[in-house]
Amino acid sequence: MSDAYILDTWYVAAWSTEVDRTPVRRVICELPVVVFRTRAGAAVALADRCAHRAYPLSAGQVVDDGIQCGYHGFEFGADGACTRIPAQAIIPPRARVSSYAVVEKDGWIWVWLGDQDRADVSRVPDTHYMTDPGWVTVTHSFPFECRAELINDNLLDLTHESFIHVTTVGDDYIYEHGLTVTVEGDVVTADRLMPGVEAPPLYAKTMATDGLYDRFHATEFHVPSFHILHSGITGQGRPREEGYLIKVLNGITPIDAHNSWYYYAFCRNFGLDSAEATADLVEGLRTVLQEDADALRLQELGMQERSPGEADVLIGQDAGIAKARKITERLLAAEQVRRKALPA
Ligand code: FES
Ligand SMILES: [Fe+2]
Repeated sequence: MSDAYILDTWYVAAWSTEVDRTPVRRVICELPVVVFRTRAGAAVALADRCAHRAYPLSAGQVVDDGIQCGYHGFEFGADGACTRIPAQAIIPPRARVSSYAVVEKDGWIWVWLGDQDRADVSRVPDTHYMTDPGWVTVTHSFPFECRAELINDNLLDLTHESFIHVTTVGDDYIYEHGLTVTVEGDVVTADRLMPGVEAPPLYAKTMATDGLYDRFHATEFHVPSFHILHSGITGQGRPREEGYLIKVLNGITPIDAHNSWYYYAFCRNFGLDSAEATADLVEGLRTVLQEDADALRLQELGMQERSPGEADVLIGQDAGIAKARKITERLLAAEQVRRKALPA
């Protein structure tokens, strides 16, 4: 198992709509995982590697509430224990695969790949905007050809919008305004207020606005895997809650050292009945995410080209990134201490 990842956390494994009785394979933190549903509809996550001779269980089929390996027919229940070996009656005790805690909520399927005794359901982030009738959601998900850290950094330093997203959500106002960064436990919030500015192109179109507003975006990063971006515009000098509000939910799931899954939900509290606004956002946000994917693929190549010892030159706008890295280091170190203490 790689020591590079925090495993004692919830990662998004899939949208609810992606999982049914056909097994779905995901690689998360270099661990192969198969996700499927029982007959009652409960989502199950098991290690996607048969205990017999390592065939991927996802290449087999779901049988009753478990899964049958496609190679020699071993069957494994939702708890990972082998329940049947077609060729013999005796089931060796070692014939089992890891079973991972799963939480399904508001259309997201989360898995906990680390110490199962530490899987704490109360730590699944708040995503209620997805099911609240006061909000409408547009979702996208993309495999990104970059390490997860680059996406996390990207979300904490939104000054990239001024350069990467000029036709949609970017303008010069962003980098002209500084950040206020706060830390609470394992959550970093990087908040930027832009008083008396115009709405960016994509929002102005969807909100049908003109004139000057107080614009804001605050990235709330639940280290290491989830960001809630509290964004919007409001009247000059008016409370944020009065304005056009956007909650962007971002599930960032490492695949391996150079690849990640990005699960994205854009929830708005305005234009709820406007199919046109939704259609504009589906396309506009696809553009935004593709721009990020293209930029971060290039940045990943740059990272790989670095000489040993070459490090970032962080500036004031990177204050959220710096705080998040400290939390990541602390969580990783604590987890490694716990892992070493476990019986081999
Ligand atoms: S490898 Fe799975 S049953 Fe043989
Ligand atoms: Fe971006």
